[in-house]
Formats: sequence, structure tokens, C-alpha cells
Amino acid sequence: MHRLRNLIIIAHIDSGKSTLSDRLLQATGTVSAAALASRSQFLDSNPIERERQITIKARAARMRWGDSTVTLIDCPGHHDFSRQVSQSARAVEGALLVVDASRGVQAQTLSSVELALEAGLELVPVINKIDLPTADVPAARHQIEQLVGLDASEAILTSAKSGLGVDTLLDAIVERLPPPQGCREAHLQALVFDSYYDQYRGVVLFVRIVNGTVCKGDSIRPMTRTHSDDGSVSEFIVDKVGFLQPDEVECDMLESGDIGFLTAAIKRTGDVPVGDTITHCGDKGAQEQLPGYEDTKAVVFCGLFPTDSGDLPAMRMALQKLQLEDASMVFEPDKSAAMGTGFRCGFLGLLHMSVTQQRLEEEFNLNLFASAPSVSYKILKEGETEWLDVSNPASIPDGKVKIMEPYAKVELICHSDHVGSLMELSQSRRGELQDQRYIGLDRVKLMYSLPLSELVTDFHDAVKSRSSGFGSMSYELEGMRPNRLRRMDVHIANSAVDGLSCVIHEDNAYAEGRFMVDKLKQVIPRQMFKVAIQAVIGGKVIASEQISAYRKDVTAKCYGGDASRKKKLLKKQAEGKKRMKMIGSVAIPQEAFLAILSRD
Ligand code: GTP
Repeated sequence: MHRLRNLIIIAHIDSGKSTLSDRLLQATGTVSAAALASRSQFLDSNPIERERQITIKARAARMRWGDSTVTLIDCPGHHDFSRQVSQSARAVEGALLVVDASRGVQAQTLSSVELALEAGLELVPVINKIDLPTADVPAARHQIEQLVGLDASEAILTSAKSGLGVDTLLDAIVERLPPPQGCREAHLQALVFDSYYDQYRGVVLFVRIVNGTVCKGDSIRPMTRTHSDDGSVSEFIVDKVGFLQPDEVECDMLESGDIGFLTAAIKRTGDVPVGDTITHCGDKGAQEQLPGYEDTKAVVFCGLFPTDSGDLPAMRMALQKLQLEDASMVFEPDKSAAMGTGFRCGFLGLLHMSVTQQRLEEEFNLNLFASAPSVSYKILKEGETEWLDVSNPASIPDGKVKIMEPYAKVELICHSDHVGSLMELSQSRRGELQDQRYIGLDRVKLMYSLPLSELVTDFHDAVKSRSSGFGSMSYELEGMRPNRLRRMDVHIANSAVDGLSCVIHEDNAYAEGRFMVDKLKQVIPRQMFKVAIQAVIGGKVIASEQISAYRKDVTAKCYGGDASRKKKLLKKQAEGKKRMKMIGSVAIPQEAFLAILSRD
């Protein structure tokens, strides 16, 4: 019998994880060089992943190396999708820790390493991009030892770009990683570590068989989610099982140790959620589910409104379809006085939010308008005893109300030269320093407790720009804390625009109000009449600005004759208009609602 090795690749965004995975597929003959060239980044198969050059969904591939079968799961590097990393980590025995030789170990890498160590994985350090002139292998080794605590003398050096070191890496995978444990004869326990929705076959589950076997025709059930939303008992008949090479290749049976896929006419991804354990129905079923199941929680919310209200039914269908695939996106109907009828949607983070919005527009041909994003607060109204969850600032009542906000534990890693600047940034975002320590000669780790609302805006971009691109951050949720918070409204031409309401700290009220009106003045185009912009708290105007009247004739500067240029300009202006929302008689661009996101 051949040897099995199952592993994930963990790394910071852009360290070359997907490129390295492609090289492994090529070196093992799983995918030909020609096929790789024709389909850049094999494992990033979703068009948005390719466009943005990021991995959003975990992908698996099974390959042969000598007499061993190696199954590799490529999982996302971005924090919004870190839950995918922890789920995938539970499906394997080992991990490649890919470090960019020119950048060293970064914060997100450390949090992924923690996830891998918690799951008991054996780690093989890999220093990639050694071909770059800025590569500094000794520094990368030093950081791996200092920060991760791994022996870096045995780190494998690779260039995913040229293919250098890839064979050595495959040998190391087979030699250094342990084989899967588990018992083929035991009752079935299969861990669902990922899934996607296929309109013809229903949900395709990616599973790791921990114990037992599963074949076509078997009756199976999820052990946590025993009933679906409509109350029916969740039991399914397996249609197909197979391996991922990386395309799906059917086989007769999956057995303990295997990583593969399974279809069973499952209608929604939420019916068999990622992290759940599958077993057989009836007496043949296991008694205990595998540990570690966690529900996902949306942390960022925004209202999404179709620009054409006639698109509302189409938008509902689109959201329902997306939710079949992505159970971590939540939505409910929403009504806004200013923006009309739409949906309040919840996401894992801003990247998840913008990817979902892009998908709604590109795959479903919708034109959307988004309200300012917000986190979820807890409020206690005067005279009441029950705290309520509120994810839309506009629905927090004026007057005496207690508000709690979510906090996050943030870890920043940067060069010692940038410590001052990052501390200043964190403090300006109401952060409380918890710990500061040197890691290595010139790198510092800062730990902050910071309100999530301050973090989900442009904090990450600000960290990058203040550290010349080399600082990195990661965070985890810490819990809710009461604070002196107030709802701030924005009035434009004397009407309240509820999609712009936000929650701010009382101490920063004036600064926040000023920031908001200044920003809006910059992004709202001049109109035919004077427009007043006001930031209002509890009925009191705390900051105001005015946009003077102006008749905008964009073609004025195209003197006679040049018809094509004029046409182009008019077309551009018309496209721009699509992204305008009429609030009363003022056209407000989408950008205005995202103004809150760029503070630094
Ligand atoms: P996520 O999918 O977002 O987690 O990123 P990733 O870590 O998978 O990075 P990816 O493979 O997409 O590579 C990022 C960039 O680095 C791409 O432009 C690659 O071409 C480049 N790259 C990857 N490996 C190497 C390497 O060994 N040398 C050089 N010079 N560039 C590389």
C-alpha cells in the first residue's frame, strides 16, 4: 500500500503560496506545464480570485510522488477567511509554512501558525522567492527560529517562480510529515472542511475521512446540523465520491486518511456546514462527532440597495443563490428612508463584503448601492433589561441608550523604525497597548486591544502605508465592552441620510463630525444649487459644510470638432451617474458612503 501525506500550505498573502502549489502539481505530473500555462494559478480557479490574485476558497489537490500520495490543501491567506485555514488544518497532519525571503515572517503568518500548532500539525518551513535580489535567507531563517520557534536550519529554499527546490520540498513532505492515523474498520467520521454549490449536483462537500469508509449509495447525515432550516431531518444518499486532482475524479470509495469530495443532492451549503462531521445513518453511525465545530459570525454589516428598485426580486434571488454557496454571508430585508428598499447583509470582513458585492454585480448583473459599513453593537434602552443586537447605526434610538461595541485583540509586527508611527495610529483609533516586545534584532511585536469598528475601516492599509509596506497585522475578536458611544447622523440639504449614520465615541465627536462633512464635501459633486452638509448628534449640529452651486458642463473644455472625445466624456459621465443616489434633490455618489473607510 502506498503512503499517504496530507498537508496544508500556510503563508502570508502574496508570499507565493498559490504559485508554489502550481509548481508541486507540475513537478508531480498531476498537471502539465502546458495546462498550467493556459490556466494561470490552478488552485485559484474562481475568476475573482484570479483578478484580485488572492485565494478565497480552500482548494485541494492529490498528487503522486514516488510511492506516496500527497494531498495538498491551499487555503486563503487573508484574515477574513482565516476560519477556512482552521477548518483545513483539522483535515491534515502537516503544514508547509511558506515565508517570503524578501519580507520575512509576518503577523498573519504567525496567527496561521498558531492555528496549525493548535491542530497538532507538523510544520515544514519553506523560504520562497529566493531568486529575488532583495531575498535575505539568513534573516528569514532567524525570524522563523525567533518568532515561530522552529528549527530553520532545515528550512527548504525554493523559488516558486523558477521551480528551484521543488523536488527537495516534495521529498521533505514525504520524509518529515506523519501519515494519517485512523481506522478503516471503524464507524464513518468524515470532516467537512470546505464546500461549494453546483447548480446541477447541489452542494459538493470536500471531506477528510478520519475513520471508516464511504461509498456511492450510502445513507449519510451531518452530526451537528441534524435538521435543515425547514425542520426536516437532514439525511442524504451519496451520489458520488472521488478525489481532487485538482479536478474532481470519481472513485468507488473514500477511506480513512483520504481527502476527497462527496455529493449527495444537498440543496444548501448551510445544510451540511463546514466543520460538521458526517457519519452513516442508523446503527452504522458513529456516536461521537469530531471536535472543533464553530459557527461563523458576520462582523461587518452594510445595507445593499439596488439602484433600480425594480431589481429587488432579482437581488433577493441572487442573495439566496450566493448563500447556498456561502453560508457565512447573512442577509435580511432592510428599509432605508434615504436609500429605499434593499437588504442588510453581514460579512466576515471588508474583503468578504467587497468580493460579495462584486459577485452580485458581475454574476447577477445588478447595480447596487451600499450604505456605510458598520459592526454590530449591543444596545440597552432606558427602562429595559435586555441588550439588543443592532447592526444598523440608523436604528439606534436617540436619547438615553447604553451601547456596547466589539473589541479585537490586534497583533502588529513591524520594523523598529516604524513603532512610533504605528503606536500613534493605534492610539488615534482608541487602541490600548497591551504588550510590546522585540522579536529579533530590529523587529517589534505590538499587541493592542482595539475597537473592531476602528479596525475594519482602513486600519490595515494605514498599517501598510506607515510601515513602508512591511508591517503586518492580524486580529481576533475579544468580546463586547460598554463605551460612551453616540449615533451620529448626516443631513444633506436638510434631509437625514440614514445610510450615512454611524456610531462614534463621545470624546471624538467633533473630530469625527468634521472629518465626515469635509470628506463628503470632497466627494459630492457640485449641484445646481447650494447644498448644506451637517453632522448631527442628538438633534445638535456639531459640524457643517457647504457645497456651492455650480453648473457642471464637462464638455466645455472640449472645443468644437473633437466629437469622439466629447462622446467619450459624456459616456463616462453617464456611467458615473449610475453610481449616484438621489437623496431628495441631491445626487450622492457611492464613494460618499465609503468615506468612513478612509481615515488615515
Ligand atoms: P494568496 O493567494 O492571496 O494567499 O497569495 P499567494 O501567497 O498564493 O501568492 P501568489 O502565489 O499569488 O504569488 C504572489 C506573487 O508573487 C505573484 O505575483 C507571483 O508571481 C509572485 N511569486 C510567487 N513565487 C515567487 C518566487 O519564488 N519568486 C518571485 N520572484 N516571485 C514569486
